[in-house]
Amino acid sequence: MLPQRRWPFTTLTTKSPDLAQAENITTMGTLRRFDLNHFAAECFVETGTFLGDSLAYAQSHPYKMLHSVELFPEFVEQCQRTFANDKRVHLWCGKSIDLLPDILKQIEPYGSALFWLDAHLPSNMNNIRLPDEVEFPLEAELRVIQANRDTRNDNFLIDDLRIYEEGRFANGNWPKRSLFADVEQVKNGISFIDALFSGTHTIRKLFDHEGYVVLRPR
Ligand SMILES: C[S@@+](CC[C@H](N)C(=O)[O-])C[C@H]1O[C@@H](n2cnc3c(N)ncnc32)[C@H](O)[C@@H]1O
Repeated sequence: MLPQRRWPFTTLTTKSPDLAQAENITTMGTLRRFDLNHFAAECFVETGTFLGDSLAYAQSHPYKMLHSVELFPEFVEQCQRTFANDKRVHLWCGKSIDLLPDILKQIEPYGSALFWLDAHLPSNMNNIRLPDEVEFPLEAELRVIQANRDTRNDNFLIDDLRIYEEGRFANGNWPKRSLFADVEQVKNGISFIDALFSGTHTIRKLFDHEGYVVLRPR
């Protein structure tokens, strides 16, 4: 059964992005950019399921368990149908930072995980501004993961580096930067990743698509 949580934004919106509109988004980072055989892991965790494209790619690898968390029920329901036949795939509906502790409990038996952290900016799709911890959950996600798991054998692929800094990105700098100038991470870049992971992981920036950050165990 889908672990369905209380809708967290009753005062803001219950409107989800239009699926058809969402399907037209073409310039998005994707897990398919990576050869997952280079990131040995027993299980897979994704934040931001969307239409399940990267999850389908991960599913084609021999992970023992795959978890993906998505804010909008419509996307989760669509992916429930897509992945119904694979008992390894677990879909969660709600805010990533709320559900990650439960997801991490599920993968506790596994000594290595690949995290694809891709939950961000629903307002890209529907122009509704949600709270910072929802629109920019990356720092909080990494803190929750570190607090609840020994990550020394885990790999992390993080999408959309260009949200956090300017650079020579193949798809250009983030055009909405000025709209989010008040957001801590937008101002301060990825220094929080260095602070959290430089002791245990190498940290590499990639500039194709909208940019990625790759964390690999040292
Ligand atoms: C760029 S799309 C994800 C694409 C997908 N990971 C893929 O590679 O095919 C971002 C998704 O994250 C979701 N999202 C945004 N903020 C979130 C949050 N705080 N918790 C969970 N999901 C979130 C959005 O609704 C959207 O579906």
